[in-house]
Amino acid sequence: MSPSAASKRATRPVGAPDRPALLLDWYDRHRRRLPWRPPAGERADPYRVWLSEIMLQQTGVKTVGPYFEKFVARWPDVAALGRASLDDVLRMWAGLGYYSRARNLHACAVAVLCDHGGVFPDTEEGLRALPGIGPYTAAAIAAIAFGRRTMPVDGNIERVVSRLFAAEASLPQAKPLIQELASTLLGPIRAGDGKSRAGDSAQALMDLGSSICTPKKPACALCPLNGDCVSRARGDQETFPRKAPKKAGALRRGAAFVVTRGDELLVRSRPEKGLLGGMTEVPTSDWLAEQDDGVALKQAPVLKGVARWHRKAGVVTHVFTHFPLELVVYTANLSARMAAPEGMRWVPIATLADEALPNVMRKVVAHGLDL
Ligand code: ADE
Repeated sequence: MSPSAASKRATRPVGAPDRPALLLDWYDRHRRRLPWRPPAGERADPYRVWLSEIMLQQTGVKTVGPYFEKFVARWPDVAALGRASLDDVLRMWAGLGYYSRARNLHACAVAVLCDHGGVFPDTEEGLRALPGIGPYTAAAIAAIAFGRRTMPVDGNIERVVSRLFAAEASLPQAKPLIQELASTLLGPIRAGDGKSRAGDSAQALMDLGSSICTPKKPACALCPLNGDCVSRARGDQETFPRKAPKKAGALRRGAAFVVTRGDELLVRSRPEKGLLGGMTEVPTSDWLAEQDDGVALKQAPVLKGVARWHRKAGVVTHVFTHFPLELVVYTANLSARMAAPEGMRWVPIATLADEALPNVMRKVVAHGLDL
């Protein structure tokens, strides 16, 4: 279907189902209770909406829940978060992954506090000008927190919409079409009180995508839109959305060095810029597509007292957005007097949980120390 055909569908022919109303009725009965959602009918707090949307950018609802609760307990509003130190924010974020989000979260809180008097802008355009807020997040916050009539389209919504209309074009090229089709599902401004339920329409589609219109075996019998779902009528709903074949990043390899001094571990901080910027890690070699084990071992930290490295059996694997990584782990145990090499430090193993240790490093440490 072309975008112009989609916009024609936006005006409902006589007798055609009122999809926005069906969706909102379903949402009123089945909405998920999530920590960042206020009770039905209440306006959402922009701070909580923004915080949840940043956390949900690359992480699932179940994982985000406890992190969200921890953040709002410690920093109840954007001004409090804007006054926090970046180190504290990174420490609280540790384990959620994609750490540039935490840096941008902090930069955004500072910008809202210092440039906007502690009040979030209420338009998509204003929101997009803030660090870490792209088109999807701006639309989600604008709709959910401010009732703007805009539809944020995430993976769940792409799936629901591409099935409902049997959109044949492949993603990512089909994004503009799916955006336009999704916008036809926005509820109207309510007559009388003028209130928009755009945020509820968006969250209804998110909930539908995560609980009913699932990637495999969708529960179509329970779907409020099953009466006119084109792909369901044809029986090929699981084949949507159509996707162009993905190019996987090449495997990178390297070595990680888990060095202990009694009950302490040798760590360093990664450079501020780039992948896992500023996070804590054990020393590692370069991570390269053609990394040779011998060359990687030569990049071990220079430590007097390490006669030989012990190579642990097996490897640690981790998949980043752009590439998978395989790390060989070497261990050594030093005497109590050894100072840390320049740029590194000893931290008690018992307090590692307080370090901004990314998941890949948690795996490395667990492997190296047999935890
Ligand atoms: N994923 C992204 N934003 C969401 C929200 N507000 N509710 C549920 N899932 C989401």
